[in-house]
Amino acid sequence: MQQARSRALEFVSVAVAAITVIFFTPATVYAQRAAAIPPNSAAWNDKTLSPDTRADLVMQKMSIDEKFQLVHGTGWGVLRAGSPVPAASNHGAGYMPGIPRLGIPDINLADSAVGVRMAALDGHYATLLPSVIALASTWDLDAAHLYGEVLGRELRAMGFNMSIGGGMDLTREPHNGRNFEYAGEDPILAGNIVGQLASGVQSQHVMGDIKHYAFNDQETGRNVVNVVMDKRTMRETDLLAFEIAIKMAKPAGVMCSYNKVNGDWACENDYLLNQVLKKDFDFKGWVLSDWEATHSTVKAANAGLDQEMPGEDFFGVKLQQAVAAGQVPMARVDDMVHRILRSMFAVGVIDDPPVRRVVDPFRGRDDARHIAEESIVLLKNANAQLPLKAAALHSIAIIGGHADVGVLSGGGSAQVDAPGGNVIHPEQGSPIWGKPVYFPSVPMKAIQKLAPAAKVSFDPGTDPQAAATLAKSSDIAIVFATQFMAESVDAPSLSLPDNQDALISAVAAASPHTIVVLETGGPVSMPWIANVSGVLAAWYPGIGGAEAIADILFGNVNPSARLPISFARTDADLPQPTVPGIDPKTNKAVEDASTLKQKGFDAVYSEGLAVGYKWYEVKHREPLFAFGHGLSYTNFQYSDLKVNQADRTVEFQLKNTGNLAGAEVAQLYVTLPASSEEPFQRLAAWKRVQLAPGESQTITLPLNRAYLSIFDVAADQWKLLPGEYKLAIGGASNDVSLKGKVKLGE
Ligand code: BGC
Repeated sequence: MQQARSRALEFVSVAVAAITVIFFTPATVYAQRAAAIPPNSAAWNDKTLSPDTRADLVMQKMSIDEKFQLVHGTGWGVLRAGSPVPAASNHGAGYMPGIPRLGIPDINLADSAVGVRMAALDGHYATLLPSVIALASTWDLDAAHLYGEVLGRELRAMGFNMSIGGGMDLTREPHNGRNFEYAGEDPILAGNIVGQLASGVQSQHVMGDIKHYAFNDQETGRNVVNVVMDKRTMRETDLLAFEIAIKMAKPAGVMCSYNKVNGDWACENDYLLNQVLKKDFDFKGWVLSDWEATHSTVKAANAGLDQEMPGEDFFGVKLQQAVAAGQVPMARVDDMVHRILRSMFAVGVIDDPPVRRVVDPFRGRDDARHIAEESIVLLKNANAQLPLKAAALHSIAIIGGHADVGVLSGGGSAQVDAPGGNVIHPEQGSPIWGKPVYFPSVPMKAIQKLAPAAKVSFDPGTDPQAAATLAKSSDIAIVFATQFMAESVDAPSLSLPDNQDALISAVAAASPHTIVVLETGGPVSMPWIANVSGVLAAWYPGIGGAEAIADILFGNVNPSARLPISFARTDADLPQPTVPGIDPKTNKAVEDASTLKQKGFDAVYSEGLAVGYKWYEVKHREPLFAFGHGLSYTNFQYSDLKVNQADRTVEFQLKNTGNLAGAEVAQLYVTLPASSEEPFQRLAAWKRVQLAPGESQTITLPLNRAYLSIFDVAADQWKLLPGEYKLAIGGASNDVSLKGKVKLGE
């Protein structure tokens, strides 16, 4: 499919031009929308009724054909060359026609992981936000809500009523090509961040989605891999993240994933869909398949899939036949339809449909910049090299990463179109699948602006010696190192690509004042770490990224972000040094990852419950940078821990002991009683606290039962074990200032 899609996207701009002429006239669009207003007399127009009652009232008036129409999309549309594009489709990734006679609008779905995808097709602008992994680095739930609001606001302005962003597979596999779309390795952090993001989308009356459910934790062989995992591990890792986010956001949609889990495809997996998602999580929305992730009619329908996307290979005529043959009860189809309609009422897309307007690029950029400022992690700062003092700098060498023209973005279906086109290929039209796109947010310009008297020079970094020569003759050298990541491929290793390790080593050898700014989709190894003064993890920083990076380098913004993933020293330190399905000898996929014809294989992730930082603790291994790590230009002091057993809280004093205002992310880690057989701490709570110099605050963190329980498989429920829980509080998972204990569960 990946090959098919890359071809499709190459032709897409031409195809769309033709389609626009043939099918897409303003008149048809407005006619569609006018018809979508329900007659005032319709009983379901009564907003005081519950979404479920309103859906039932609509269903009483629906024909059988109308019901079957809602449970599948209409095909690949603009995503695949040669696919018909329905006249009223909004040119998003998916389209499902509504029922105008009943006032049920079309559902227009747009990929929108980090910004609205494919805006260029209709000449629209879409804000590129920092990656979701960057958002998770803020540990800021308000920022996560704002992130979703930006997506929802822009989707609405472009006429979309459903987002298919909301990626949240855990970073179990640090090589995963889509880690930048996800919220890190901890289920409690990821669940809260993505829950807020999806709530933000839905606050704009645009239906939200959370994906890819579940365990789509690697891209290698994603169409055939069978993830083998025991129930307790499932529930306490990725599924816990989904549980938290789904209960918080109540999203309209959950997208089931391509892979198999314990032998069944995720989109026909009774355990995942019926038992866990719909029963245990009480999910009231609908399950839509990832694009072509539906594999059957009867099994999928009965296992809980509600809508096939993007076409009707299984949920079109075949579903009607299966119902006629008694293999799928009509009640199941009614349930699918009910879930779709009730979500439309619940989120407000019927009462308050999208209104087209010009996207506000300025507001989007301000929001993106604000989130970027909170998301850039200061990993290393030797000898207080940072913040830079502009007055003391006469010459600055900027090296590599196309920092003279832009910042990198992530690829695949999360790709956003750059305003004016990809700045490193100005002649190109729509983005090409698999090719990096740089956005016009220019680090070199932003740095020059903050150091107006300095001579700022650029070297592309393609020749390490030339770069080193420039670095040697400059007061400081800032190397921009990039790693392009995208859907459908995993990183071959943790090493930076394109000889950039050698580049950084050469520059560091020439200049004792070398700072590395990383634009990556996930963790990378840093063999040169001892020789550089400073490192910033800027992820893919979005359209306000250059200014945010410069503001942090020069101290206009005090860094406050914390890692939502561990950085390993080398691939050998990872639970899976090579991604399952990759042949370690050739470093290539054992099977062609792009075709469904390949042979399946099992992925048995050896870390089990101990995902990410937990695994380092179990193995007594030091990561390069630990989960929760991130430096500030000021210092914080923790004191006076009090454990309040009765109301299950911990309380302590946090003081900014430095000379600069700054935000600390105070983190609470808890180790469960030994009977849990979990010999590692887990994140249980945190708080981002902004403090003026010298200011102290009393911080209270909850001991949340849901975050301290284990999943008891025999009883099929969560259980708070009786016993002593060890508490550790500090600024990172490996930087604990306060320790205590509490007895719970008795
Ligand atoms: C991706 C989904 C995406 C869909 C539609 C699939 O290949 O896995 O995340 O939403 O395509 O573009």
